[in-house]
Amino acid sequence: MIQVRDVAHMSEDSLEASKAETEANLSDGSTGVAEEERRDFLVGVSAVAAGMLAMLVPIGAAGVALLDPLRRKQVSSEMVLVARTSAIPEDGSPRKFTVTVDRTDAWAAYDDSPAGAVYLRRSGDEVRALNVVCPHAGCFVGVAKDNSRFSCPCHLSSFDLDGAVDDPASPSPRDMDTLDVEVRNGDEVWVRFQNFLPGRAEKTPV
Ligand code: FES
Repeated sequence: MIQVRDVAHMSEDSLEASKAETEANLSDGSTGVAEEERRDFLVGVSAVAAGMLAMLVPIGAAGVALLDPLRRKQVSSEMVLVARTSAIPEDGSPRKFTVTVDRTDAWAAYDDSPAGAVYLRRSGDEVRALNVVCPHAGCFVGVAKDNSRFSCPCHLSSFDLDGAVDDPASPSPRDMDTLDVEVRNGDEVWVRFQNFLPGRAEKTPV
């Protein structure tokens, strides 16, 4: 409501009081405008931040899915062709073969990707396979120079040629890990390759 004052008939004190009141009103008005502008600015900033966050969440989730090795597809437990029987010594000595598999992960598909290695031994028509990884702590088990046993160079676990622990002082908590084998088409040696967790008494597939 607009008030019209008759300043011509106001006393000097009244004029001073009126002036002070007018200045106070002007001051309050400018403060209110500034406060309103500040509020509008904060609302705008919050909206932009929320929009950016909404964009970043799916990007971050995709990054985790692509980079996290645990989300990559594991090596298949299907049989893989590893060798021909003719490549395995007839005298029962172990021979090491690399195992390659076709696999996929979040990035791409890989053909003939190295997955590990096995020792193959022949006993007549029978072929046996052992994973070369030591069940103690995951080193690669070697073969003694005389081919009489397996020995791990890391902490000296010792195994016979069937993979059984043959020294009570061996730190390995279990025998070497045996793998399923099939001889197909006369001479193809197919192995169900699998890795197992080290440091456990039982075979736990990775
Ligand atoms: S890793 Fe083979 S004995 Fe320790």
